[in-house]
Amino acid sequence: TNIGELVTNDPEHGGSRQATGAAARAVGSGGAGLGIVPGAAVVVEAGRVAWTGPAASAPAADVAVDLGGRCVIPGFVDSHSHTVFAGDRSAEFAARMTGEPYTGGGIATTVAATRAAGEDTLRARGQALVREMLAQGTTTVEIKSGYGQDVATEARTLRIARELTPETTYLGAHTVPAEYADDRPGYLRLVTGPMLAACAPHARWIDVFCEPAAPTAFDEDESRAVLLAGIRAGLGARVHGNQLSAGPGVRLAVEVGAASVDHCTHLTDADIDALAGSWSAGPGSHGSGGPQGSGTVATLLPAVEFSTRSPYPDARRLLAAGVPVALATDCNPGSGYSSSMPFVVALAVREMRMSPAEALWSATAGGAAALRRDDVGHLGVGARADLTVLDAPSHTYLAYRPGVPLVSEVWKDGARAG
Ligand code: NIG
Ligand code: FE
Repeated sequence: TNIGELVTNDPEHGGSRQATGAAARAVGSGGAGLGIVPGAAVVVEAGRVAWTGPAASAPAADVAVDLGGRCVIPGFVDSHSHTVFAGDRSAEFAARMTGEPYTGGGIATTVAATRAAGEDTLRARGQALVREMLAQGTTTVEIKSGYGQDVATEARTLRIARELTPETTYLGAHTVPAEYADDRPGYLRLVTGPMLAACAPHARWIDVFCEPAAPTAFDEDESRAVLLAGIRAGLGARVHGNQLSAGPGVRLAVEVGAASVDHCTHLTDADIDALAGSWSAGPGSHGSGGPQGSGTVATLLPAVEFSTRSPYPDARRLLAAGVPVALATDCNPGSGYSSSMPFVVALAVREMRMSPAEALWSATAGGAAALRRDDVGHLGVGARADLTVLDAPSHTYLAYRPGVPLVSEVWKDGARAG
């Protein structure tokens, strides 16, 4: 109780948690789509939101917590990270800042270190990063494999990731490892065969680095084969696409009914049309559908453009077309090593011309849509009581005070967590 501004993303308060084109557009209108309640209270029961509204009309509760006029938002949903790995690539970053381009070639360095690391080291580092994320207000995180690239290390990575989150993604097709450099078909057979069999039990999603411009990543046909094998094994699809060039990733993601295509830095008009079309094709036309819709979300990762000194994606063009946009960190040792959703929100506002309201929606409800989750990313009745408390009077402060640790406490499933 005594919440200065409560952001709910809940239709009951004029917000939107559905990832339809219309909802995605509505958020632009001055924060209305956030479902803001001033002077609010939240009632939590058994880890779920039981009531939200003006504090003056709140039902009686057993325990009352006074938040002193601070702002409460739904916990961030970081729908894209690579947080189980070993090794260090700070030298690669330093070289980039003096002019080296980012090509993805450094992934091999992390693969070597991750294969060599013991399970305890990998687990400890993954736990530390997820704790770091929680302290910055992230209550749901997706974690990918992809730094193992052999059966044992991919499976180990996903087992560890599964201890940290239910949102685990098999990314054996991150790059072709050195020992298969002359046998790409052989690596594809491994990724879609024995490695998939070992990893699928620990994964919810399959992903591929679809980037014909990067020599060790995958082209359209290879990527399609990987995604379809994962879908046949019961996994949902997501795609790394259009990061370094306007490749086939976006169109392939829509074709296979992927929940999200991530990066979207280089898009053609046809890519925008395909994404928008995936939301108007009618229910059940793609993928697994579900309450968040069956279209493909565009997930933007501006911390990568920051850390690779690249042009930012054109968020306004996607939003104008009614494409639901998510924001995520992509936390990884190479292209961007930030675990901070507040930093990503600030970048999205300053560098991609999203309004503070649009950026916050994309970092919460947008991330939930990218994971096809209806229980997180909003604070409607029945949602998980995942609350991020800001030491600030409104959500605008996330971008207005960049770099300032505004997250003062975090509640996960109704319990104070950080
Ligand atoms: O999402 N693009 C491919 N993979 C990661 C980067 C991996 C790395 O450089 O270690 C990404 O940017
Ligand atoms: Fe990534």
